[in-house]
Amino acid sequence: MWGIIATWAMAYDGVLKGSKLLTNKNSSVKAIEETIKSVEDEPSFRSVGYGGLPNEKGIVELDSGFMDGDKMSVGAVGGLTGFKNPISIAIKLSEESYNNFLVGRGAEEYARLNGFEEKDMAAERSLEIWREKKKSFSEENMKAYDGHDTVGVVTLDTYGKMCAGTSTSGLFMKREGRVGDSPLCGGGFYVDSEVGGAAATGVGEDIMKGCLSYEVVRLMKEGCHPQEAAERAVIELSEKLKRKANISRDISVVCMNNNGEWGIGTNIDEFSFVIAREDMDLVIFLAKRINGKLEYIKATDKWLEDYMSKEIK
Ligand code: GLY
Repeated sequence: MWGIIATWAMAYDGVLKGSKLLTNKNSSVKAIEETIKSVEDEPSFRSVGYGGLPNEKGIVELDSGFMDGDKMSVGAVGGLTGFKNPISIAIKLSEESYNNFLVGRGAEEYARLNGFEEKDMAAERSLEIWREKKKSFSEENMKAYDGHDTVGVVTLDTYGKMCAGTSTSGLFMKREGRVGDSPLCGGGFYVDSEVGGAAATGVGEDIMKGCLSYEVVRLMKEGCHPQEAAERAVIELSEKLKRKANISRDISVVCMNNNGEWGIGTNIDEFSFVIAREDMDLVIFLAKRINGKLEYIKATDKWLEDYMSKEIK
């Protein structure tokens, strides 16, 4: 059984590529890399890769993380500028014995030495949005860009190997050097092929407080179905933050176990995700809370059209 699950409808084309690779018995690593690269390369998405929105200084700083659930190897980059595909650098870093998580200049030097493609990641449209925002910006009104942030993916290949990965430009107007949850193993992503994997999206400052992706995998290991694990982990973290910090911001997570069973958790009104499995065609679902219960609704063509036009604007 192969399977793939990803955060946000923006991952649709990527998941399509990933699912073809998995159908053809390619590895989880290849599938996750191609899925995430596809989102990184698409200029209309404002929160990942090329076209991602800049930090407060107008610089696009990218974070990405990767984990191989067979080897328990991890690679990550934080605050990376000027490289086309952060996920590929994170995967390469996971093959090193030390220095698996590099930030800023060190990450860039590593990428250069290893021949990764360089690219100015600030698209003109992103800079226009930044210039506009700069006029009215204050930290008080900062909020995650429409919630459409990280692409987070979990893959299961026909050999039973699982991987988890993320890529994001992080919060729009973030401080220079700010790193969110996405490259943090256990926070933004976690996977163990003996159990399953998870990947998160939302406000990194909150997600990392609950080591959310690890918590989801831990609950699956204890016997929870992925849906129960994801929902419990998100709700418990969100409730705790409300109690202890008086505020809980956007948090969502996708997960899959090593049987290909999947689930999602979210504390927002509408969270879209993409799923494909050997026995199930690719679907974009919207998770909505209806009368207190989380329900999945298939996204209609009209919904997708509206979503894409919002991204492209
Ligand atoms: N979840 C992405 C970030 O907070 O940077």
